[in-house]
Amino acid sequence: MIRIAVLVSGRGSNLQAIIDAIAEGRLQAKIAVVVSNRPAAPALERAKKAGIPTMVVEARGGEARDTFDTRVVEAIREHRAEWVVLAGFMRIIGNVLLSAFPMRIINVHPSLLPAFPGLNAQAQALRHGVKVSGCTVHYVDGGTDTGPILAQAAVPVLEGDDEQSLSNRILVEEHRLLPAVLQKLSNER
Ligand code: GRF
Repeated sequence: MIRIAVLVSGRGSNLQAIIDAIAEGRLQAKIAVVVSNRPAAPALERAKKAGIPTMVVEARGGEARDTFDTRVVEAIREHRAEWVVLAGFMRIIGNVLLSAFPMRIINVHPSLLPAFPGLNAQAQALRHGVKVSGCTVHYVDGGTDTGPILAQAAVPVLEGDDEQSLSNRILVEEHRLLPAVLQKLSNER
């Protein structure tokens, strides 16, 4: 059974999908800790409700990335997590964190990478007029949404879609795909 740390910044619907998958027996894993860089992230409430330890690691004004990352690594190690899941974590991961968990950090992104990396992927997709989009679960490397791809799921882009409607359609797939990938990684251990 793998022990994972989930890093969040906001709503936490992907965190919830992992919590639910574990509760329903679809995922053999333990969430050792949820780490947020934002004290007000609703994701923290979801974790607490599920009885999962939480930690807030907030960037101090002018703090170097390495120092911040070191504090995150300490939080993860303290809870003996060996995998790190970025679930709506709105910070670039630096070398300190990457080298602490080589090929053990995964991210979920709301586009079919390598198309539309970075912020507002759904809006980018609409702007380009693509007819198919989706989500990607990938290993995190030093770039922005550039690491090796583990799994993808596609959804149609429909006439009349706006950012919200497309995001919602993609999110359904994120919630299915992320726990499924974690279960696969867990099986391979
Ligand atoms: C998701 O769309 C995820 O793909 C992106 O940020 C969003 C996080 O949503 N990286 P939530 O906090 O999991 O609800």
